[in-house]
Amino acid sequence: MAGSSKTIEGAGPVTPFETAGRAYHINEHEYDVVIIGAGGAGLRAVVGCAEAGLKTACLTKVFPTRSHTVAAQGGIAASLGNMGPDHWRWHMYDTVKGSDWLGDQDAIEYLVREAPRAVIELEHWGTPFSRTEEGRIYQRPFGGMTTEFGEGPPAQRTCAAADRTGHAMLHTLYGQALRHGAEFFIEYFALDLIMDDEGACRGVTALCMEDGSIHRFRAHAVILATGGYNRVYFSCTSAHICTGDGNAMVMRAGLPVQDMEFVQFHPTGIYGAGMLITEGVRGEGGYLTNAFGERFMERYAPHAKDLASRDVVSRAMTIEIREGRGVGKNKDHIYLHLDHLGADVIAERLPGIAESAKIFAGVDVTREPIPVLPTAHYNMGGIPTNYHGEVINPKDGDPDAVAPGLFAAGEAACASVHGANRLGSNSLTDIVVFGRAAAQRAAATITPGAAHKPLAKDAGLEGLERLDALRFADGGTPVSQLRLAMQKAMQHYCSVFRTGESLNEGVEKIREVWKGLDDVRINDRSLIWNTDLVEALELSNLLMNAAATIHSAAERTESRGAHAREDYPERDDANWMKHTLAWADFEGRKTRLDYRPVHTFTLTDEAEYIEPKKRVY
Ligand code: SIN
Repeated sequence: MAGSSKTIEGAGPVTPFETAGRAYHINEHEYDVVIIGAGGAGLRAVVGCAEAGLKTACLTKVFPTRSHTVAAQGGIAASLGNMGPDHWRWHMYDTVKGSDWLGDQDAIEYLVREAPRAVIELEHWGTPFSRTEEGRIYQRPFGGMTTEFGEGPPAQRTCAAADRTGHAMLHTLYGQALRHGAEFFIEYFALDLIMDDEGACRGVTALCMEDGSIHRFRAHAVILATGGYNRVYFSCTSAHICTGDGNAMVMRAGLPVQDMEFVQFHPTGIYGAGMLITEGVRGEGGYLTNAFGERFMERYAPHAKDLASRDVVSRAMTIEIREGRGVGKNKDHIYLHLDHLGADVIAERLPGIAESAKIFAGVDVTREPIPVLPTAHYNMGGIPTNYHGEVINPKDGDPDAVAPGLFAAGEAACASVHGANRLGSNSLTDIVVFGRAAAQRAAATITPGAAHKPLAKDAGLEGLERLDALRFADGGTPVSQLRLAMQKAMQHYCSVFRTGESLNEGVEKIREVWKGLDDVRINDRSLIWNTDLVEALELSNLLMNAAATIHSAAERTESRGAHAREDYPERDDANWMKHTLAWADFEGRKTRLDYRPVHTFTLTDEAEYIEPKKRVY
């Protein structure tokens, strides 16, 4: 087959490369920092790097304002205290408790203390937050957010732009990124990290999907902001782009991912469609009922009721359905009511979900309840980092050792501020706080324009061999068939409730599907906008994430946060207050696990360590 990848004029030198007898042209680039992903975390990192004078490139597989941050609805948590008393210490307490004591308390302290500054920065940059009568940023209650260390009434802590907060933030951040002259490589699919012999990251390779050209970006630092991987599930609130590409790149580079067993099921995905209905609905006074019209959350969380933490609400809904109290013809979902809020409040504060409910459930929310079901929503696990966003690659005797030149932020990362269960509205806080932290660390450690160390001629090009092999894959199984098998297996074996027996079965099922990649068939051999090939690359990334998730879940013999084991219903701090690490053996189609300690210390003396106790709402 003749050589087939394009060279790009003005991109820098071109390196020829041959694999399986086929020639490719590698377009070479040099930057101080390359950021992969243009959601909130990626764009906040871009702004920070570019304004610090670093030559900054951002690679993204979709147009920046189509990144999944656009789908975040309810808001961003920060203890501004605009609508009642609040304090970062209360926010810290709630986040540690929400994490079921798996969160690192130094990183949590950093998150909650930086949160108000991050929100004010967004306001100054033009984010159109909703307003109070006095003109302050409007804040609504959200699940698990309280006052007085859980003893007081719910905190109004979640800053909202109606129910389109992520949309508003993403557009603001993209505007800021353009202001600072960062360069965007849009519709570029990142293939693999370039790692040197000392374990440092030196850049990344990528495919330009539009014209099929191949690129190698050298950089002093790579910041992964590639989002989550919930497309491993059959029903999820996440966009089709959420395929865990960064996590898989890290695993292929021989580094571990962390705490992958902790997958958040959002209580209110629209029944059937999976579309998100924001927790902000319950924040504004909405509530759930079963087939008897009972507000059942009062039985499960007498104090917080419908505003208990997400894992608690999702489990309660699942129990109601299992015990025959679900609604609908098949008694397999729950109703979410907001009709009593009144059309004016809905139009002002929840216009987006009114539209989604109409389109995806055929429901007029001013008159009828929305049919909802817990739906895979967020990955607490991901690439382990410290609170600077530096990626952790534990070494013997040093569980916190970092991989030089490699950063991660946002849902792709595990800082770990969410531990075993994230509180609603803490993820928008996470993306801007840690996107900025990673940029600050990069700026503190990189001299703009510094020379790059020499690289081996074929450094990082294994990814191209993988791409070539998939491009010419000639087996009997379509990508869509394998993907569906993975999604059904994850939905069945690794859901809201789990048992050892089903998880172990699931581990084998996922391994089988993963092996199925050897028999995959790609019909389009070109490199230009080859969605068949890109979906195959994404599937191979998803499968690594699925394998790490279900294996980590099978081994954790306790219940903590979103990991609810029916055979081990209690939390077991003596044995399991530790982070799971998972390494993938891509060729062997299996994962290997180990553990590292949770940080049971705070960042400063101004915060008190929050001692573990029973988690009740
Ligand atoms: C929501 O609005 O319920 C989703 C936002 C989040 O997951 O924090």
